Amino acid sequence: MKNYQTARGTQDILPKDTRKWNQVEDVIKQICHVYGYDEIRTPIFEDTSVFKRENDSSDMVNKEMYSFSMNQKDSLTLRPEGTAGVVRSFVQNKNYANADLPYKVFYKGEMFRYERPQKGRYRQFNQFGVENIGVKSPYIDAECIALGYSVVKSMGLNCVKVLINTLGDAQSRIDYREVLVEYFKEHLDGLCGDCQRRFVQNPLRLLDCKVDKESEIMKNAPSLQDSLSVESKQYFDQVLQALDNLQIPYEIDDRLVRGLDYYTDTVFEVVSTHSETGSQSAVFAGGRYDGLVEYFGGPQMSGVGFAMGLERLLLLAQAEGIQLDEDDSFDVYVMGLGEVNDVPFNLATMCRSAGYKTEFNPTTRSLKAQFKTVDRKNCKAVIIVGESELANNQVNIKFIETQKQICVDIDKIVEVLDAQFEEKEHGHEHGEKCECGSCNKEND
Ligand code: HAM
Repeated sequence: MKNYQTARGTQDILPKDTRKWNQVEDVIKQICHVYGYDEIRTPIFEDTSVFKRENDSSDMVNKEMYSFSMNQKDSLTLRPEGTAGVVRSFVQNKNYANADLPYKVFYKGEMFRYERPQKGRYRQFNQFGVENIGVKSPYIDAECIALGYSVVKSMGLNCVKVLINTLGDAQSRIDYREVLVEYFKEHLDGLCGDCQRRFVQNPLRLLDCKVDKESEIMKNAPSLQDSLSVESKQYFDQVLQALDNLQIPYEIDDRLVRGLDYYTDTVFEVVSTHSETGSQSAVFAGGRYDGLVEYFGGPQMSGVGFAMGLERLLLLAQAEGIQLDEDDSFDVYVMGLGEVNDVPFNLATMCRSAGYKTEFNPTTRSLKAQFKTVDRKNCKAVIIVGESELANNQVNIKFIETQKQICVDIDKIVEVLDAQFEEKEHGHEHGEKCECGSCNKEND
């Protein structure tokens, strides 16, 4: 029989892990909220031309896209990243005409790249990203890095460092291209096949080569810093100054060019420095892009953003020993003993309607077996429906922490649970007046 498995480079996110994902997503939402970024949800697939722009030389566009066609005419592509879709949407919805630019959005969701899978690198993975479009300012570049940095720090990660560089304005890159061509044409034979292609298409991409990265030819290549225009240099200095003001430490890495073609001026990558991190160390990365809005038919407007790999973030949290919320406890467990018909089922419904996370198992098992489940599921209170109590319209409730067990009328159950859980939350004894203000009532 066929052994069904997830497709290569994809994985199930199991219930035991979704709690961690929710926690990460809560942190993201909270931080985006304070920075004033609203959520956007763009389609998971787009017209291929949204991602594949003319002369694009990146590996992502040329080798890694999942493209398909349903009618031999239109080519569609599963999104390999979020930026292109967001900018397409920005232009399609004429957000550039808003009086209140910049347009600030965040997104999270699945991305697809046909890469060689390994730890931290998948074919389907999740990114959280932000885009800030319409105003070009070094403060916004710094704000963007600060937002991502704040997410990483709020998750408790310590071993991260910010690498930053500038690709300069258009003129700087034209000048640099000439210098690079001059240099690399003497060394072409010593470069890998991909680099030979990159040399023709976009010599800047040579600096991003993973194969030749450590070679002497690469190490001795001229630096972009020497081709920067005065304006680009000034802009970059201002970004660094803003990061200093925010007390975000960084390292300038003049070989950082990033793997996508649309970047201009500032580019950055935040990497893990933890010893257990494999080669996939970039937690989040991004930069400024000056030409994308125009490409999609909008006015000349600049944008900046980053994307964070959420699987990587969770792997790094694990490597650093950070305990994420694993609270899988139940408030109430309802068990039936003997001939009690549908009473346990009805009581479970009643508790759920009152907001209590309630477990109910309709199988008839021994008291001992059911209490083992109570233990495993970490239930705080157990409602035991027994035949003799039921004859008086009553059931027993046992509170696990105190081991206190009381017999109560069925129609008083929610009241008793409310009193007990409120007591525990606010730390006062039954009958004492609570000082908290929010539960300002006398308990009896
Ligand atoms: P990127 O560097 O291609 O940039 O991806 C950003 C992050 O996504 C990486 O740093 C990594 O954490 C995660 N990532 C990328 N590929 C994979 C993979 N195969 N498996 C797991 N995680 C992965 C972008 O995507 C740009 N759109 C960022 C951006 C936004 N630039 C401007 N705005």
